[in-house]
Amino acid sequence: MPVKILMVCLGNICRSPLAEGILQSKLPTGKFVVDSAGTGGWHVGEQPDKRSITTAKNRGLDISCQKARQFKTSDFTEFDHIFVMDGSNLKDVLRLAPNDKARTKVSLMMDALHPGQGVNVPDPYYGGPEGFDNVYDMLDEACEIVAAKLIKEHA
Ligand code: 4NP
Repeated sequence: MPVKILMVCLGNICRSPLAEGILQSKLPTGKFVVDSAGTGGWHVGEQPDKRSITTAKNRGLDISCQKARQFKTSDFTEFDHIFVMDGSNLKDVLRLAPNDKARTKVSLMMDALHPGQGVNVPDPYYGGPEGFDNVYDMLDEACEIVAAKLIKEHA
């Protein structure tokens, strides 16, 4: 059984598609499955935001085949680790958690780098392209640590 990791943001079109692509690129295929979802349902079925696709492409990553979906309660049983992008996502996801086991699977993405500091991956949706580059840099650094930890844990 592969280890399953879910990346969660609000719309599942800007941050979590990047997080999915970046973490996937740092893990060996077969042993790990990475997916993403949004707490909101406005963009279900859509491709990632063009700016996320372009930012990823500039770094050699193709995320254009992803399709947005909404986070659902069954994701707590389906996935082993759930990473959320900001405090608001954390609140929304934890509100749906059926029990303690589900709750322990959830963590703030940037806690990988700055444990307990409450650092958010900022929502770049309403800003310019530089916001997407910043998000990519933050996620790349955090995913490097998460990937190393996962590989070590599941060697
Ligand atoms: P994301 O960004 O949560 O990083 O995918 C957003 C995308 C769309 C919206 C909000 C945030 N929206 O309100 O439509």
